[in-house]
Amino acid sequence: MSSDLSTLISARVRDVPDYPKPGVLFKDITPLLADPVAFAEVVTALAEGHAGEVDHVVGLEARGFILAAPVALALGAGFVPVRKAGKLPSRTLRETYDLEYGSATVEMHTDAISPGDRVLIVDDVLATGGTGRAAVELVRRAGGTVVGFSVLMELGFLKGREKLSDVELRALTSV
Ligand code: PRP
Repeated sequence: MSSDLSTLISARVRDVPDYPKPGVLFKDITPLLADPVAFAEVVTALAEGHAGEVDHVVGLEARGFILAAPVALALGAGFVPVRKAGKLPSRTLRETYDLEYGSATVEMHTDAISPGDRVLIVDDVLATGGTGRAAVELVRRAGGTVVGFSVLMELGFLKGREKLSDVELRALTSV
């Protein structure tokens, strides 16, 4: 993790207290996305080391899409969305995971990843790791190999990394 890049990200990601509910400190990446230099540096860093080894980049709805799509283009790879339940139009694989209260389901088209495909998963924030874990399972159930999992920011205190101990996880910055 480059300290310059980490400093740039910290300066461009805005903390919003009590959003979306009291007690939550929301990490707002919109100032970073609005800065073309910072946005480009982040995309380059998320893709770094994966040139020539990736068939598809999987992005996680919704903010993960914004980062994963340019990473896919940078790597000459295709983009595959993992979406919240009910949003994809064709046949899907589904994974359900626990939240603090209740559960959530994400989906990926059954034909999006082929057996043997090499896949990089990209998201903005790693928090509890539930979404990321579900994405890894979806890719593996389709027969793909997860060659890496890259995030802009890891919220270390939520220990999401523990749910992804079997993948190569890269966080550009950790708080
Ligand atoms: C956020 C974030 C990650 C996920 C991380 O997405 O963009 O995808 O939560 O949380 P976890 O590690 O605890 O699973 P969110 O579900 O808020 O969706 P959004 O991007 O559509 O706002």
